[in-house]
Amino acid sequence: MGTYIKRELVYEGKAKKVFGTDADGVCIVEYKDEATAGNGAKKGVIPGKGAVNNRVTNRLMRLLEGHGIPTHFIEELDDVSAAVRRVEIVPLETIVRNIAAGSLAARLGLAEGAKLHSPVLEYCYKNDALGDPMVNEYHIVAMGWASHSELETIAEYSFMANAVLGEYLRGAGIELVDFKLEFGRADDGKILLADEISPDTCRFWDIKTGKKLDKDRFRRDLGGVEEAYNEVLERLFGQG
Ligand code: TMP
Repeated sequence: MGTYIKRELVYEGKAKKVFGTDADGVCIVEYKDEATAGNGAKKGVIPGKGAVNNRVTNRLMRLLEGHGIPTHFIEELDDVSAAVRRVEIVPLETIVRNIAAGSLAARLGLAEGAKLHSPVLEYCYKNDALGDPMVNEYHIVAMGWASHSELETIAEYSFMANAVLGEYLRGAGIELVDFKLEFGRADDGKILLADEISPDTCRFWDIKTGKKLDKDRFRRDLGGVEEAYNEVLERLFGQG
């Protein structure tokens, strides 16, 4: 394992802190137990969430890397932190959906759980003050947030990730309903999958019972939040 000396705080978000290190181009991500929902309207603490999200993210990043998706992940450092390559984050939330839920169900008047004939890809502009509005490829290119060719890469990696994660999670008895990805540019301009892939950023439903095993338990006050996060960890690591 590499040893990195933690340096300046370069970013603090709602669920993570990112620090620079003594190594060129390497950052340390530290996951927090704090949770927010509804663009900060609801706040709380989910004990152990930071460790679950760190370990689940690292495992899924490594899985995707093994399937040809370049990621920022370098290595896990401890329960709540990982070394990652420094990237310039593309200011988009890329969402892939397999089953109608959340904002898609609300926007189109669909029952949650309604089947989609094919996966849906959506982009939102990362801007808390504007409430992360949905945008399309034309907005993104017109605003200079990403180029056409970068968007092609982002879409390709997102659908690949959907196929790989969907199959892997099915093996753990989990239905991948939808999820959010973020991408960044490395120093050489290469697009890398960044951020996290965890119960905070995905909808995970138990395949047999439909029980929600993700942040919707917190967003919707369903109870059993900590237990659900731990269940995801146990199912993924129980698979070997
Ligand atoms: P949505 O149905 O609320 O648009 O969410 C779609 C997916 O994106 C869901 O798996 C949760 C995830 N997500 C985030 O990770 N961060 C966010 O800020 C939002 C709104 C959704």
